[in-house]
Amino acid sequence: MRILAIETSCDETAICLLEATQTPTGVDFCVIKNITHTQLEHVAYGGVFPALAKREHQKNLPLILETIMQDQQPPDYICVTNGPGLEPALWCGIVFAKELGVRWNIPVVPVNHMEGHILSVLVPFPTPNQSLPPHLHQPAQTFSYERHMVSFPAIALLISGGHTELVLVNEIGNYEIIGKTKDDAVGEAFDKVARMMQLPYPGGPEIARLATAYGKIPDTDRIVQPLFPRPMMHSKDFDFSFSGLKTAVLYYIQSLGDTMTDDHKQAIAAAFQEAATEVLVYKTKKAIDYFGAQTLIVGGGVAANTAIISGLTEMLTKDFPDASFYAPARELTGDNALMIALAGYFKIQKNPDTEYPDIVAVGNLEL
Ligand code: KG4
Ligand code: ZN
Repeated sequence: MRILAIETSCDETAICLLEATQTPTGVDFCVIKNITHTQLEHVAYGGVFPALAKREHQKNLPLILETIMQDQQPPDYICVTNGPGLEPALWCGIVFAKELGVRWNIPVVPVNHMEGHILSVLVPFPTPNQSLPPHLHQPAQTFSYERHMVSFPAIALLISGGHTELVLVNEIGNYEIIGKTKDDAVGEAFDKVARMMQLPYPGGPEIARLATAYGKIPDTDRIVQPLFPRPMMHSKDFDFSFSGLKTAVLYYIQSLGDTMTDDHKQAIAAAFQEAATEVLVYKTKKAIDYFGAQTLIVGGGVAANTAIISGLTEMLTKDFPDASFYAPARELTGDNALMIALAGYFKIQKNPDTEYPDIVAVGNLEL
């Protein structure tokens, strides 16, 4: 079965052509083509503008499709993200998918963006050269999913610019949100803190870079790191809050006024990242323990953060040595259409005859 997947939930215009072949024990996947175009037009505005995202998606979709479909026969299915995301952006993908569905006379299947982030971890990233840092490892083009490969229940920590969620994964296609942020998403907090220090958008990689630089300064030469709060860390639920942490950073920056130096920025980035990491790791640990999970999955743009990945790895090694850890290849941490094709494949397998005549964009679609 060949699937064409389309993702336009935010500021990435992405299309993937994936071939899935069922085997007696699972499924073999082959990524025929996978293109992700990040709209750099938003950088100048310091955030994503829905109207601009819409215009760019409409412009980019036909161009990307042409490259993807070169020398290719029409696929068997089209899968398209229908939420959560920015509704004007989602609609671009949906309208485009429906037109293609009519043109090729094939079914169009709606896919949940967050399920895509969960399943992005099924794409392995072999290490061609151990000396390369992980972000340079390329995701595999061909790979297999074997039934029973992932032990369930799993806990998925989804961390992005729009979401911070802990999800109980009973099996592929069966999800329960057990906790989420009550205010800002963690990626949003990274972006806002970066903005307070006049760093470019998206702020996550900038904060990570400054925090790493701070870590390399010898103790004797470092300025003292401020101590920021860990909001809701010990609340009895699995929810998060990042707005208080963000405000604490703002007050600290205001207290420095014109005296803020580059050294201060590094110390602030390190202290903020440490606080965010500690809360994420602690709540994830609590969820794994409570639900007796065998597996931890992490997904979303913020999963590109090496300090967070290290924090989760250390916690698992120490507290749950028998559990498995799945994180996406760096290239697949952010929004992409390969993850939508994978989620679409499992949805089609589960209910092959279901038709979806009324696909609509749902900005706050739940899992
Ligand atoms: O999943 P994604 O590409 O889009 C959404 O669905 O939101 O996530 C984007 C978010 C942004 O907030 C960005 O700042 C953050 O991921 N991000 C990072 C890093 N790389 C991207 N946050 C922390 N550290 C990083 N290295
Ligand atoms: Zn996303």
